[in-house]
Amino acid sequence: MEKLKTTDLKTVSFFGSPHGTGYSSRLHDAFLLNFSRSNIMRVSAYKKNVKPCIACGFCKTEFKCAYDDMNDVMEGIISADVLSFSWPVYFSSTPSPMKALIDRFQPLWESSTAGVSTVNSKMIFYFITSGSEYQSVFDPSMTILKYVALTLKSRLMENNSVKLSGLDNYNGQKNFDSVLNKLKSESLML
Ligand SMILES: Cc1cc2nc3c(=O)[nH]c(=O)nc-3n(C[C@H](O)[C@H](O)[C@H](O)COP(=O)(O)O)c2cc1C
Repeated sequence: MEKLKTTDLKTVSFFGSPHGTGYSSRLHDAFLLNFSRSNIMRVSAYKKNVKPCIACGFCKTEFKCAYDDMNDVMEGIISADVLSFSWPVYFSSTPSPMKALIDRFQPLWESSTAGVSTVNSKMIFYFITSGSEYQSVFDPSMTILKYVALTLKSRLMENNSVKLSGLDNYNGQKNFDSVLNKLKSESLML
């Protein structure tokens, strides 16, 4: 295992909970302690509130969106080394503002498919929490992240990411504290 030198890495960090200090956001913030604050672009899906994709087809030929409310995020993604995502599971998937934001990655998918994308080789981390503990609770979230990674020709960094279930019960909450403390005390290892 090699210690990752994170001080120079640029990251775009997507927060998908309405709660800035909720479980998923706190895990995500603990992870971000590894990075220089000036290199972090924070995007809160609920505050950003982007327009949903309307499948107008503009990005099929122009490789950018007809709307301009994601331009800063797209520029951030292009120059980032790291992308990180956090969200609470809602109805087994990601909350709708985060899904709307990810759907707006479609220009990146179109440029990737057309072979004109310059986006690749990013490290993608995730911090996902759920209230319950049923077996497939993280499956839709992981499918979404897998296809984000494929679209961006990037890697999901499973070792330094967290999926934490059962947070609506006492045992889950107890477990949360130890996972949070571990994230805070450990430097990133690859
Ligand atoms: C609208 C809504 C839908 C939810 N759906 C699920 C679900 O399908 N499965 C689950 O395990 N927990 C579900 N939960 C519980 C949240 O995932 C859980 O409370 C979460 O860990 C809170 O994270 P946060 O503090 O980062 O917002 C839901 C909560 C809300 C408010």
